[in-house]
Amino acid sequence: MSQIWSIGGGKGGTGKSFIAGNLGILLAKEGYKTLLIDVDFGAANLHTIIGISKPERSISDFLNRRLATLDETVLSTPIPNLYLISGAMNNLDIANLTHQQKIKLLRNIARLSYDYILLDIGAGTSFNTIDYFMIADSGIFVTTPEPTSIENVYRFIRSAYFRKIHHVLKAHDFRTLADEAERQNGNATVSNPEILLHVIKELDPEKGDIVEKALRTLDFKLILNQVRKQDNPNIGELICKIIERHLALKMSFIGNLSFDDHVHNSVCKKLPFVDLYPYTRTALDLRECCKNHLSINKDKTSVQYLTA
Ligand SMILES: Nc1ncnc2c1ncn2[C@@H]1O[C@H](COP(=O)(O)OP(=O)(O)O)[C@@H](O)[C@H]1O
Ligand SMILES: [Mg+2]
Repeated sequence: MSQIWSIGGGKGGTGKSFIAGNLGILLAKEGYKTLLIDVDFGAANLHTIIGISKPERSISDFLNRRLATLDETVLSTPIPNLYLISGAMNNLDIANLTHQQKIKLLRNIARLSYDYILLDIGAGTSFNTIDYFMIADSGIFVTTPEPTSIENVYRFIRSAYFRKIHHVLKAHDFRTLADEAERQNGNATVSNPEILLHVIKELDPEKGDIVEKALRTLDFKLILNQVRKQDNPNIGELICKIIERHLALKMSFIGNLSFDDHVHNSVCKKLPFVDLYPYTRTALDLRECCKNHLSINKDKTSVQYLTA
C-alpha cells in the first residue's frame, strides 16, 4: 500500500509545488518508487518543476473518460523511479469538475500502488482542496515566515480540523449531537473549532471522547520555506506549539528551507533544483526535511485522515 503525503497550506506562492517536486526527486533517488500528483487544477505547474515542458496526458483524460484508468495517465519523468500525474487541464475541464469526479479521483488515488505518492495541493480552503489534502496519511503544511502566509496556513488547518469533526460525527451517526451543540450554543460558537470540541464534550462526554480520539489521529507537519537570514529560525516550532495548544491535534515541525535565488534560476531553466544546485543550503535543507519526515513517519501505520 502506498504512503500518501499531501503538501498544502492555503496560500499561493509559498513553495508547495517546489517542495512537492523536489521531495519527490529525493525520494526517487533514495530508491523509492514515487508518484507525484498535481491536484492544483487551476494552476497546475508541477511538471515544470521536475523538468517536463508539456505533459502528454493529464488527470483530465481520466476524469473525462478519454483514458479508462488513472494508471494510464501516469507519465515517466527524466528521473528514474519518479512518475507524474499532471493536473494540467483546459478551462472547460476545470469548470466541469463535479463532486462525483472528486470522489472517483480520491478513490482511484487510494488504489494506486507506489512506495510514496505526493499530492501537490492548490491554494485556498474550498471543500475540494481540503478533501484532497485529507486523503493523505501525512499532511505537510508549507508557510513562509510572513504573517499573511501564517494566517492562511492557520485558516487551512482549522478548515481541515472542522472537516474531520464533521466526518467523525457523520461516520458515527452523531449528527443530532452537532445539531444540539448548534441549538444550545449558537452558530458562532460551533463554527469556532477552538471550542467546538469542548461544547461537544460537555453535551455528551462519551461521544465527545470518541470525537477527541479521532482528532488526535490528525498528525500534521509543518515546513517553513523561504527563510531569510533576518528571520527568527524558531518561528516554525512556535507555530506548531500554538496550533497544538488551540486545537486537539499533533503538529510536528519538519524544518526550515532557506530562501535562495537559485530556486528562481532553476524554475526559469525548467530544471529540477536539487539536481541543478545540489550543494546549496536550500538543497541541503530539503534533504534534511525529507530525512526528518521519513523518520517521523517510519513507524506510522497507514491511516488516512478522513477515515474516522
Ligand atoms: N526556498 C525558496 N527560495 C527562493 N525562492 C523560492 C523558494 N521556494 C519557492 N520559491 C519561489 O516561489 C515561487 C512559487 O513557488 P511555488 O512552488 O510555485 O509555490 P506554490 O506551489 O505554493 O504556489 C517559485 O517560482 C520560486 O521562485
Ligand atoms: Mg503550486
